[in-house]
Amino acid sequence: MTRSRLHAVCAAALVVTLATPISAQAPTRFGLGRAATPDEIARLDIDIMPDGTGLPAGRGTSADGAATYAAKCARCHGPTGKEGPNDVLVGRLPAEGFPFSQDPTLPHTIGNYWPHATTVFDYIRRAMPPTAPGSLTDEEVYGLTAFLLHANAVIPAGAVMDRNTLPAVVMPARRYFTPDTRKQSAGKPRP
Ligand code: HEC
Repeated sequence: MTRSRLHAVCAAALVVTLATPISAQAPTRFGLGRAATPDEIARLDIDIMPDGTGLPAGRGTSADGAATYAAKCARCHGPTGKEGPNDVLVGRLPAEGFPFSQDPTLPHTIGNYWPHATTVFDYIRRAMPPTAPGSLTDEEVYGLTAFLLHANAVIPAGAVMDRNTLPAVVMPARRYFTPDTRKQSAGKPRP
C-alpha cells in the first residue's frame, strides 16, 4: 500500500470514527463489577441530616461515653477535650459571642461554633478515630456525643441522647448560622 493510499484509508477511518455516535460504539455492558447488595449500600449510606434524619437506633449518656473517650479519643484531643494536641473539642466563649472574624486564632469548638448537635454524631461515626473510622458502634457514638455535649455545657449530666432527643438539642452557636434557601438549578452550583 502506498503512503498516500494509507493516509486516505486512515482519514476515512477517522471520519467513520468521528461520525459514529459513542453510544453505537460502546457495548451496552462491559461485564465488569456487579450490583451492590442492599447491605453494602446500607454500610455506606450513613449520612445524618441536621434534623436527625438518618440517625440509627441506640442511646447513650455522658457517663456511657466517658470511658470510650478516655480509651479512644483523649490521646489526641486531651483528657477533657481542651488540651489537644489535635483539635480542641470543648470550650464556650464569654457572653456567647461569635468573634471568630476578629480573632481567627480562637479555637472553634463544638460548644462555641457547631450549629447542629446531629453533626457531632455524624462526624464522629464517619471519621473518628482517624486511625479506624467506622469502627465505633452506634451506642458508643451516642455515648461520645453525649459526653462532648455535656463537656461543652450544652446538655445536663444524665441526659440520654438517642434519635429523638439529639435533634432537639439547640446548639449555642445555632443562631449565628442562616440556612441557604437560594434555589439550586439542576446541574449548576449555587450563585
Ligand atoms: C490519632 C489522633 C486522633 C484520635 C485518636 C481521635 N481524633 Fe478526633 N480529630 C483528630 C484530628 C487530626 C482532627 C481534625 C481532622 C480534620 O480537620 O480533618 C480531629 C477532629 C475531630 C472532631 C472535629 C473537630 C472540629 O471542630 O472540627 C471531632 C468532633 C473529633 N475529632 C472527635 C473525636 C472522638 C470522639 C474521638 C474518639 C473516638 C477522636 N476524635 C479520636 C485526631 C484524632
